[in-house]
Amino acid sequence: MARELGAPRSPDARSTVVGVIGSPIRQSLSPLLHNAAFGALGVNWVSLAFEVVPGQGQVAAALGGMRSLGVAGLSVTMPHKAEVAALVDTCTEVAARLGSVNCIINEGGQLRGANTDGDGFLASLRRAAEFDPTGKRCLVVGAGGAARAVVYALAQAGAADVAVVNRTAPKAEDVAALAGSVGRAVPSADAAQIAQADLVVNATSVGMAGVGPGTASVADDWLVSPALFHAGQVVTDLIYAPRVTPWLEAARDSGATTVGGLGMLVHQAAAQITLWTGLVAPVDVMWQAATQAA
Ligand code: ATR
Repeated sequence: MARELGAPRSPDARSTVVGVIGSPIRQSLSPLLHNAAFGALGVNWVSLAFEVVPGQGQVAAALGGMRSLGVAGLSVTMPHKAEVAALVDTCTEVAARLGSVNCIINEGGQLRGANTDGDGFLASLRRAAEFDPTGKRCLVVGAGGAARAVVYALAQAGAADVAVVNRTAPKAEDVAALAGSVGRAVPSADAAQIAQADLVVNATSVGMAGVGPGTASVADDWLVSPALFHAGQVVTDLIYAPRVTPWLEAARDSGATTVGGLGMLVHQAAAQITLWTGLVAPVDVMWQAATQAA
């Protein structure tokens, strides 16, 4: 009987093991995405989820276990990305610049840290909206870890302008600096600025399932109002649960092209598959697994 898409194959003594570490981890879609890819590739690899609690040296211990057990790769999620960046033996240029690792590659006991969030973000926009950042004006709302990856990626991909707006203004300055000469923090985005943007990104947690608004209504927390969007703009939300956030729904009503956050999740995982196996990731199969689960 054919295995269910994304179901781990029965591991055996020859299986290559990868996984995801984070806390809490039980809601993670990463093993499902990885296992869907391994199934489609026909390789004897299996991905598991490991709860690694913060503090007490647990992350360092997990990396030690990775070395001694020969775990081939780990995906890293909240809240360990920065700590892992400081613990791995080497980092890719992007991971070092961001101070954040979302993927560890075990190279014969040497642990290399990478960050595929930015590439996943760009690939998602390319696939869903044929968006190429070269020469484009971008407005990023939020200044957390996800915003950092996005701002850096947009600048590296040739954006002409990357404006960052955040509830806590000083954090926007730090994040905008990642974009070098094209980055700038804006205390609040005015109507003209919003209208001129080719791309608007929500990188805040406002609208995320299970996260209540800071104020009475979720719309009160939107730092950039979707009512100001228009046709010809690409508007994306990094949140993938719900699939269509209230902000994206309003952006769609304004005529903008909207892109949900699931694509970034799939594409950052696809990039991890390639880093671990050296194979081209079966993105369509991973998409199918993600949409079935989401
Ligand atoms: P992630 O790693 O997913 O980016 P994070 O680092 O916790 O998560 O960042 C969350 C982002 O959402 C921040 O930009 C945060 O703004 P502050 O820097 O001011 O905290 C933003 N955010 C969270 N709740 C918000 C709210 N109610 N209104 C506006 N912004 C909010």
